Amino acid sequence: MSENKSEEVVNGVVVDHSHDRVFYVTFGAVLGFLIALTIVISIIAGAISPDPGMTDLRRGQVSERIAPVGGVYTSAEALAAAAPAAAATEADTRSGSEIVAQVCSGCHAAGVLGSIKLDDTAGWSARLAEAGLDALVQSVINGKGAMPPRGGAPGLSDAQVRESVLAILEGAGVDVP
Ligand code: HEC
Repeated sequence: MSENKSEEVVNGVVVDHSHDRVFYVTFGAVLGFLIALTIVISIIAGAISPDPGMTDLRRGQVSERIAPVGGVYTSAEALAAAAPAAAATEADTRSGSEIVAQVCSGCHAAGVLGSIKLDDTAGWSARLAEAGLDALVQSVINGKGAMPPRGGAPGLSDAQVRESVLAILEGAGVDVP
């Protein structure tokens, strides 16, 4: 048997309790240090991070993100109420010459598919004399030969088609009677 009070014999094995004490003291110190560190870090984080609350700007951004992508209209009135906004975004205000530059010149600039070239004055005045302006406009609206309806731009209105035919004739130096 040992004289040391911290030693004890358990089931024939000598157990030294001073090891436990050293462990508890060290473990307690480490634990205390980590708790203190956690408190310090959370105070620093609170001081340097911006306010996580909902500002008006953030609320606006969020409602924009979660806004529905489409709507279901169950009555003609509801549809009519919603339609002006949709129509306004699609309104095509291009002038005749702009349409010619963006749509028609795709073929008519170089005479693609046997189309009359934009600068072919004789060619255009012959067509105009043969068919008349209204018939030429109708050809474009309905498509003719290799030319798709409305020159392949189905969004064009009849008036815009007419404007672009006039712009082509004017550009080619053909006088429209
Ligand atoms: C995909 C090519 C293509 C595009 C784009 C195109 N055209 Fe044409 N266009 C043709 C061809 C090909 C013809 C000759 C059709 C024929 O006589 O068979 C033609 C003929 C015409 C004629 C004569 C029609 C007639 O009755 O003789 C006019 C006018 C005309 N195009 C205007 C336009 C206008 C305006 C646009 C733009 C809005 C346009 N084209 C876009 C290919 C095109």
